[in-house]
Amino acid sequence: MASLTIRKLDDAVKAYLRLRSAQNRRSVEEEVRVILRDLIEGHEVPLTAFAAPPAPAPTSQRASAVPEASVTLIIGGGIAAYKSLDLIRRLKERRVEVRCVLTKAAQQFVTPLAVSALSHERVYTDLFDPQSEFDAGHIRLARDCDLIVVAPATADLMAKMANGHADDLASAILLATNRKVLLAPAMNPLMWSNAATRRNVAQLQRDGVVLIGPNSGEMAEAGEAGVGRMSEAIEIAAAAERLLRPPVPRPLAGKRVLITAGPTHEPIDPVRYIANRSSGKQGFAIAAAARAAGAEVVLVSGPVDLDDPQDVTVKHVESARDMLDQVQAALPADIAIFAAAVADWRVANAGEQKLKKTAAGMPPLELVENPDILATISKLTDKRPPLVIGFAAETEHLIDNAKSKLARKGCDWIVANDVSPATGVMGGDSNTVHLISRKDGEMAVDSWPVMTKEQVAIELVAHIAKSVTGGVTGKSAETAS
Ligand code: CTP
Repeated sequence: MASLTIRKLDDAVKAYLRLRSAQNRRSVEEEVRVILRDLIEGHEVPLTAFAAPPAPAPTSQRASAVPEASVTLIIGGGIAAYKSLDLIRRLKERRVEVRCVLTKAAQQFVTPLAVSALSHERVYTDLFDPQSEFDAGHIRLARDCDLIVVAPATADLMAKMANGHADDLASAILLATNRKVLLAPAMNPLMWSNAATRRNVAQLQRDGVVLIGPNSGEMAEAGEAGVGRMSEAIEIAAAAERLLRPPVPRPLAGKRVLITAGPTHEPIDPVRYIANRSSGKQGFAIAAAARAAGAEVVLVSGPVDLDDPQDVTVKHVESARDMLDQVQAALPADIAIFAAAVADWRVANAGEQKLKKTAAGMPPLELVENPDILATISKLTDKRPPLVIGFAAETEHLIDNAKSKLARKGCDWIVANDVSPATGVMGGDSNTVHLISRKDGEMAVDSWPVMTKEQVAIELVAHIAKSVTGGVTGKSAETAS
C-alpha cells in the first residue's frame, strides 16, 4: 500500500485533519486511518467537513488550536528524559505539533503514557509495530514533520546516527529523514569528552546536524560535574523555533530611508490642477520593501489612490514645494530614493477663486519652474544622505538621458524606466528598469528584466543593502575609486 504523505495534502484538508486529530487525541495518520476504516466499513464519516473546513476560530483561540509546524521528538534513554516532558509543553506553547518516539532505554525513565498525555498524540516505540508500520510509519515519522529533535541525545544514539545505523525506530527515522535534525546531547562529562564521541559529534556537524548544548553543571551521578548536562527545555524549544521559523534577514535595520512617490498636483485655481499619470505604486513598493528589510522608512507621497504601507511614516503632500518641505524636514537619512514624478512647473498666478470663462478668451497661465527636489538634496553639503537614488522617467533615448540626469542632478544611482504609453509603466503593475551607477569614474548600466513593481522594489532594496552593508555607498564609492 502506498504511504500517505500528509504534507502533500491541501492546506484546508491538512488543517481539518490536524484539528480533528487534536480533538480526538490521535495522530493525524491515525485519524486518516479511522476515517478510511469507517468509510470501508460503511460508517458515516463527516466528509462534508473536507469540502468545508471548520470555520476558523478567532485569532486568539486559533493560536493554540491549530499547530503551525510539526516536530518528531525522539526521546533517548537518559535521566534528562524527564526534561523532555517539559520540552513537549514548551513546543506546544509555540504552536508546534509534537509526535514522540521513545527508545527502549527512554522507557526506563519516562512512560509512553505520560508522553502521550502531554503530546495529545500516540507515542511510537517499536520499529516493527504492526499498527503504524503497515504503511511505513517510520518513514512518515521521518518526513511528515518540519524538524526532528532528539532530546536527550545519548552518546549511543549519536554514535548510531553518525555511523548510519537503523536497527530501531529512532535510528531508522534519523537515517530516513530529509528534515533538519536538532540534537540536545546529554551524557556524563567523560563520555562527552571521549575521543569516540568527539569524532561522532564532528561527523554529525559535517552532516549538517544542529546541536544545542550540552551545558556544564552537576551530573545526576553524585559528586560528578562538567560538560554534559542537557540544555533546558526552554533553550531547546527556542533552538527548535529558530530552525522552524528562521529570523527574516533585516539588512537595513538601523537605517533611515526617505522615499518620495506619486505625482504632485500644482494648482491652477482652487478646483483645477496640473498633474501627471504617476500612480505612486513603484515608490510605495520600495517603501514596503525597505521596511521589510528592517529600515525606518519615511514616505513623502503626492496624491495617490493607495493604502499607506504598514509601519511606514507617510507624509501626504499636494505640490512640489510641499514635497520639498517634507523631504527637508525628514532629514537626516541614510538613503534617499526619489521615485516621485514631480511636476516640473507650477502656475505662477494660480487663481484664489475659480477661474471663469470670459469673453476675453482663455486665461493666460504663466508657468514657473518647481524646485528640483532630487538635485537640491543631492547637492546638500551638510545633510546629504550618503546614498541618493533618483529615477529617470523617459520616453526616448532612455539610457543617454538617464546618464545625463545622474550627472546633472548629482545623485549616486539612477533607476531609468521607459514611461512611453506603449510600455504601460505609468499606472501599471510592472516595470523594466536599468540601474545606472558610477563605477571607477564611469557609468555602469545594469539592465533588469521586466518585473512587477514589487519585484523591482525588492531587487533595488537588495542592491542598496549590499552597497550599504558592504560599506560602499554612493559618495564614498566615488571617493574610494
Ligand atoms: N525630480 C525631483 N524634483 C523635480 C523633478 C524631478 O525630485 N522637480 C526627481 C524625480 O523624482 C526623479 C528625477 O528627479 O527622481 C528625474 O525625474 P524626471 O521626471 O525623470 O526628470 P525631470 O527632472 O523632470 O526632467 P525631464 O522632465 O526634463 O525629463
